[in-house]
Amino acid sequence: MTDHIQTDTADGVLRLTLARPDKKNALTLAMYQAMAEALDAAETDPAVRAVVLHGEGGSFTAGNDLFDFLNDPPKDASSPVFQFLRAVTGFGKPLLAAVAGPAVGIGTTVLLHCDLAYAAPSAKFRLPFVNLGLVPEAASSLLLPQAVGPKNAAELLLFGDAFSAEEAERMGLINAVVAESELLDFTLVRAQALAAQPPAALRLTKALLRAPQADAVTATIQEEGRHFVERLASPEAQEAFQAFLEKRAPDFSRFS
Ligand code: COA
Repeated sequence: MTDHIQTDTADGVLRLTLARPDKKNALTLAMYQAMAEALDAAETDPAVRAVVLHGEGGSFTAGNDLFDFLNDPPKDASSPVFQFLRAVTGFGKPLLAAVAGPAVGIGTTVLLHCDLAYAAPSAKFRLPFVNLGLVPEAASSLLLPQAVGPKNAAELLLFGDAFSAEEAERMGLINAVVAESELLDFTLVRAQALAAQPPAALRLTKALLRAPQADAVTATIQEEGRHFVERLASPEAQEAFQAFLEKRAPDFSRFS
């Protein structure tokens, strides 16, 4: 159990709140587990007709908790990280995201599994997998090139530089940029509008939109996951994580 994930259902919409603002909502194993459980419960709860994912305190999420990666890295498919990915990729009802502030790693790749995503001008997206000695996850090596085009995907994944809400909108990663003061309400209103749609038609339409990719997404998550788990133990990743802990720039010059 964790207090760092909060759930609240009103007007047919489950609000899933990442609530660890002092750590920029970095995701611990307990948070992944709680999100997986909340999505699984929402799937069968008739009171939930759409879900909004957002973060508290001006951040979406700083991605995976790097201390967890060091102390308790995911080893196999039973890890909460993979449970969350299974829950999010298999989720049958509309999933919306409201992004403000940092959206790092899974904070960006999860948007590829959201049906709609809105972001405030403060949003700062980043995919620093290579920078951390890792590889892409959440099927982003498959879905990102499709979403933003192969050249944009290569730029975002190989350099791992931060990019803005405006750039994310231009590339098609999000639907729209919305003023931060209105972002959550705007997203909730969009979710409520979906909650008022005929639910079976909505679910079928979502399933049809996802079906051509479903098997490839599952296979890619497994393939990426295999490399990711190995990479976590690599000297490159250890240097990157140590540098983060020591608040210094990493030095990869000794690696070939
Ligand atoms: N894992 C663990 N702790 C994290 C974290 C993460 N991914 N991201 C931020 N934190 C912690 C910081 O260590 C800091 O803790 P402290 O106050 O005890 O020192 C706190 O959250 C605030 O972060 P800080 O770096 O001071 O905030 P910032 O506004 O200067 O920068 C980020 C925000 C998100 C740009 C920066 O924290 C960052 O780059 N984090 C790492 C992101 C990352 O690599 N994620 C993994 C992706 S796979």
